[in-house]
Amino acid sequence: MVAKVFTVAQQKGGAGKTTMAAHLAVAWSRKHRVAVIDTDPQGSLSQWYKLRSELHGSDERLLFSAISGWRVENEIARLKRQVDIIVIDSPPHADTEARAAIRAADLVIIPLQPSPMDVWATSATIKLCKQEKVPVKMVLNRVHPQARLTESISSGLVGLAANHFGNRVAFAGSLMQGLGVTEFNPNSPAAEEVRALAREVLAYVNRKHSLEAKRA
Ligand SMILES: Nc1ncnc2c1ncn2[C@@H]1O[C@H](COP(=O)(O)OP(=O)(O)O)[C@@H](O)[C@H]1O
Ligand SMILES: [Mg+2]
Repeated sequence: MVAKVFTVAQQKGGAGKTTMAAHLAVAWSRKHRVAVIDTDPQGSLSQWYKLRSELHGSDERLLFSAISGWRVENEIARLKRQVDIIVIDSPPHADTEARAAIRAADLVIIPLQPSPMDVWATSATIKLCKQEKVPVKMVLNRVHPQARLTESISSGLVGLAANHFGNRVAFAGSLMQGLGVTEFNPNSPAAEEVRALAREVLAYVNRKHSLEAKRA
């Protein structure tokens, strides 16, 4: 089986890339072998994984790798032989790491908060994805319930995921315990949001793979 590769990318810092990458990876690791790759020199995902290992021991269903520059491509190729799903967290600018991570992806997930600044900031990432011919799903993050702005922003976006993450402290709280929210509080609304998004984007990529297999 060929591993599916999801890259979480967005030029804007603080959009929720690392948060989304960690929670999705944990959710998938229940049923699949998963690897997360931190390509951001800032290393937030690495910190979380280190804490996770210290507090909860090693986890053979969720591998980790921190890598940058031109070595990203080789690392993805190596991990593809070991796991079912690879999740790549990327740095907040369109440089070598982001491009290599986007090129290798089956789907690029672009988190954005429902604000005009975040929408404007996605254009550079979308351009990069178009150049590399990789599909994108934009995912709204930190959505406030009943915010009119969210509705008006989402109605104008093409390629928006059906699911989103709300603005919830549980996302950060669980990471601070070295966990995903689906492990920390599996019955919470936050955990349900993670599982729903994980199902949606995995189904999208599985459909893409089976269409490509038919054509081949
Ligand atoms: N859905 C959310 N609800 C509440 N806080 C969030 C959510 N997503 C991200 N955050 C917070 O926003 C900040 C930036 O998130 P982060 O994942 O580090 O973004 P990025 O990796 O894009 O820079 C962090 O403090 C994180 O805890
Ligand atoms: Mg980050």
